This record gives sequence, C-alpha cells and structure tokens, in this order.
Amino acid sequence: MSVELRSARLVIRPIVTADIPAFVAYRRDPEIARHQSWSTEYSATDAQALVDGQPRTSVPSAGEWVQLGLHARDAAVGSSALMGDVAVGADPHQPDTYELGVTLAPAHHGQGYAREALDAVIDWLMERQGAHRIVMQGDARNAPVLALMRRLGLRHEGAIVEGDWFKGAWSTLERFALLDREWRESRER
Ligand SMILES: CC(C)(COP(=O)(O)OP(=O)(O)OC[C@H]1O[C@@H](n2cnc3c(N)ncnc32)[C@H](O)[C@@H]1OP(=O)(O)O)[C@@H](O)C(=O)NCCC(=O)NCCS
Repeated sequence: MSVELRSARLVIRPIVTADIPAFVAYRRDPEIARHQSWSTEYSATDAQALVDGQPRTSVPSAGEWVQLGLHARDAAVGSSALMGDVAVGADPHQPDTYELGVTLAPAHHGQGYAREALDAVIDWLMERQGAHRIVMQGDARNAPVLALMRRLGLRHEGAIVEGDWFKGAWSTLERFALLDREWRESRER
C-alpha cells in the first residue's frame, strides 16, 4: 500500500510515470544536479527505471529507497505538477534508521516547501513507522541544504572531511541526524 501525506500546502506521494517529464526537467538542471548523484544527462529512461523500481510497500525495507513527489494541495496556487521530491532510504544495516534527501524544482525554491515536506515526512516516519533515527547529509559547499537541515532542527553529527570522491574532486560531507527522543522533546517544547 502506497503512502500519501498531506501538509498545509502539499500532497506527498510516490512518484509515478506521469511525474517523469517534470522530474527529468529539474534533474537535468546543472544547479540542481551539482551536488547530487545524477548528472545533467539524466533521461526519461532513467526516471522510468526509478519509477518501476519503487517499493510497493508504504515504507522502504532495508536497503530500499522510495522517491516521494511533492504536489501543490491547492490547484489554484499551482497545479498537480511535480514540484520536487523527498527520497527516503532505509538503512541496510541498522533497523528503524532512515536517510532523507530533498530536491525542489528551481521555480519552487525560497518558499519553505522543502522544510514543510521534510517536516511531514519526519513526523510520518517517527509517529507512524517507529523510526529510531533519521539522517541527512549534504556537501559542505551546498549552503541551502545545510541551512535547511539546521532549520529542521537536526543535530550536526560531524563532517567526513574530503572523504567522498565526487564528480572529479574530494568533497566534504556534513552529517546531521535526529533521534526519536529528540523529535519527541522538540514536539513537547
Ligand atoms: C536543498 C533545497 C531543496 C533547499 O530549498 P530551499 O528553497 O532553500 O528550502 P525551503 O523550501 O525550505 O525554503 C526556505 C526559504 O524559503 C523562505 N520562505 C518563504 N516563504 C516561506 C514560508 N511560507 N514558509 C517557510 N519558509 C518560507 C525561507 O525564509 C527560506 O528563505 P532563505 O533561504 O532566504 O532563508 C534546494 O536548494 C534544492 O533543491 N537544491 C538542489 C538539490 C540538492 O542539492 N539537494 C540536497 C541533497 S540532500
């Protein structure tokens, strides 16, 4: 059974074939791809393979990723077109541990959508899926994602300094995390 989450402005659900044109368009943007695992050559065929490989369960099993698409709730504000996505990966080695990634199409930057979507996904994982720990990481040069992780209230765990050979250079990864008890404490405050 597939998940559908709602926040104040968004509907969040696994991406499907109809989302592919918008998904490919923003993945091919050089600014969007700069710190991400794909390149500007990302194709509709790549996207279809990703859609076809989406887990059928609402939450990914160990080692699996699900790509949740973000859509405007209010069609008058935007449309049902894909605005961005949140990737949820289940740690292959540790139970109840998830990694998140986020991407927004450039037209939707600077409006709080990434924060809103990640808040909803974190609440879902903690409240409904029994998550123990949620992690995110970002390239040290990727200022918007570092600011976002801080805004979300994630705890900075450290940096893997020049530990990642990425697109032809050593890069530093900043790692952030949130435990279930930290999430509960933040709700009570
Ligand atoms: C990472 C990324 C999603 C962050 O996007 P973002 O637009 O900066 O983040 P948000 O959607 O949370 O928006 C926050 C901004 O909206 C502003 N904002 C405007 N209206 C708002 C509202 N109603 N509610 C909340 N914030 C609002 C905030 O003040 C903030 O502005 P600031 O950056 O000037 O401080 C985006 O830069 C991106 O897609 N990058 C490429 C992909 C990537 O590298 N991803 C990281 C891999 S994990």
